[in-house]
Amino acid sequence: CTVRLWDSEEPVPRAELLAAVAGKQGLLCLLSDRIDRELLEAAGSSLKVISTMSVGFDHLDLHEIKKRGIRVGYTPDVLTDATAELSVALLLATCRRLPESAQEVKNGGWTTWKPLWMCGYGLSGSTVGIIGLGRIGQAVARRLKPFGVKKFLYTGSRPKTEIAAEFQAEFVPIMRLAEEADFIVVTCALTPETQGICNKDFFCRMKKNAVFINTSRGAVVNQEDLYDALVNGQIAAAGLDVTTPEPLPTDHPLLSLKNCVILPHIGSATYSTRNTMSVLAANNLLAGLKGEPMPSELLL
Ligand code: NDP
Ligand code: DGY
Repeated sequence: CTVRLWDSEEPVPRAELLAAVAGKQGLLCLLSDRIDRELLEAAGSSLKVISTMSVGFDHLDLHEIKKRGIRVGYTPDVLTDATAELSVALLLATCRRLPESAQEVKNGGWTTWKPLWMCGYGLSGSTVGIIGLGRIGQAVARRLKPFGVKKFLYTGSRPKTEIAAEFQAEFVPIMRLAEEADFIVVTCALTPETQGICNKDFFCRMKKNAVFINTSRGAVVNQEDLYDALVNGQIAAAGLDVTTPEPLPTDHPLLSLKNCVILPHIGSATYSTRNTMSVLAANNLLAGLKGEPMPSELLL
């Protein structure tokens, strides 16, 4: 192959991408590249394969891609463990107030041992709700179970009886999950159905001592409603690895809240996982160009 390489960690400027993709057969992209009609038209009819170095594919306009008979590769499974691990880390950091506590040590707020100072919420005996019991959702449940979680609830487009049996997880409507869970972890894909599902109605149903974690996509959450819920004490705390937009502006209101922990989309960010993802993305692209089965093809 002849490769036109964007040799930088920064995203390709849109105009440069649109110009460079013209006449190419394959495109390896990141989740920060919007692959829409404009880009597909700029590429022209030569484009046969798109390989994204991500498991999420909400940045791809699948309707336009399918219409043109273009094949798509993505990177499921290889990032499941890293993302589940980060989800658990974020949950613990949020519910036990780790960033806030560490800050108190630095700023002199730690004066003595006080009975209720820096208290948070623990997992033992709790009910955990998982929105989207897919690969990552299951891996999160598997890791949380040994913390003494009493009950798992989950939502999705349909019950997954066999998978859920491992955690004795109960399939419930989303509003029941909101009402009963002490911890809610969002691990679903971003789709038209899941966009904004964590909104005012949802947060209003949650318990006042409940903790909300999102490691899926920012747009699953209505951030204004989340801000209100956190400020008004409607829920206890939130941990977000994903936001709208990304990066979140440094003056965003959510960043002013002590009960909100925000990370810069690092779910899959271990050296070995990112390395494996990049190799898989390259192999998907090469297989697609050769007209062979891809190691991980998204079936359209
Ligand atoms: P999967 O496809 O295995 O899981 C996605 C889940 O979303 C499925 O269980 C699906 O449930 C669920 N879902 C779909 N529609 C709904 C709905 N209406 N309500 C609730 N759940 C729904 O994908 P992965 O677990 O591998 O990845 C999930 C997502 O995590 C990715 O799409 C990506 O956006 C995000 N991600 C984020 C990372 C990060 O760095 N923070 C890293 C990796 C992934 P059902 O089968 O019932 O439809
Ligand atoms: C994905 O793969 O979808 C993540 O968001 C980044 O690893």
